[in-house]
Amino acid sequence: MSEVVNTGGTHDRLCHGVNIVTASHEGKRAGLAVAWACQVGGQRILVTVGPQSHTRELIEASGAFGLTVLRSGQQDIGRTFGLHHSGDVDKFEGLEVFTAETGSPLLRRCPAWFDCRVTHTFELGRTKLFVGEIVASGADVTEFVPLIYRGDEY
Ligand SMILES: Cc1cc2nc3c(=O)[nH]c(=O)nc-3n(C[C@H](O)[C@H](O)[C@H](O)COP(=O)(O)O)c2cc1C
Repeated sequence: MSEVVNTGGTHDRLCHGVNIVTASHEGKRAGLAVAWACQVGGQRILVTVGPQSHTRELIEASGAFGLTVLRSGQQDIGRTFGLHHSGDVDKFEGLEVFTAETGSPLLRRCPAWFDCRVTHTFELGRTKLFVGEIVASGADVTEFVPLIYRGDEY
């Protein structure tokens, strides 16, 4: 029988990959680190974006987002996109950036990228869940160790 314990600390045991979610609209581009993302069905991806995010406005305005999967060794990219606001710094500086179908920026030299068009938006309090249909995808790296976010560490 499983033991019933206090739930404090158990969130640290949920493991997520670290991804960069990006968007572009009218010449502006932005991106944030997102751990709370997953594939839903064969051709869709769900991302969870809080009210603090500047990128969220560009996702809503463009109706699209890009998602690039990070690998172990790319913690610095996770920090750049996860600890600063796009309005304050150019997070893409020094990175190889390209676009596919929607115009959302995508990052080279990463295990996988997905270009998505938003099909559904759900409000969960002040957080928004965007579901996007994958309209293009690809990979630059064949072998990699995933970058895992667990609690506050990755
Ligand atoms: C590893 C990591 C994972 C994160 N996951 C999420 C997430 O799933 N959803 C979210 O809204 N913010 C998440 N954040 C916080 C945002 O990346 C952060 O608020 C960022 O500065 C927002 O950037 P923006 O204002 O340019 O959009 C995460 C941060 C880190 C470091």
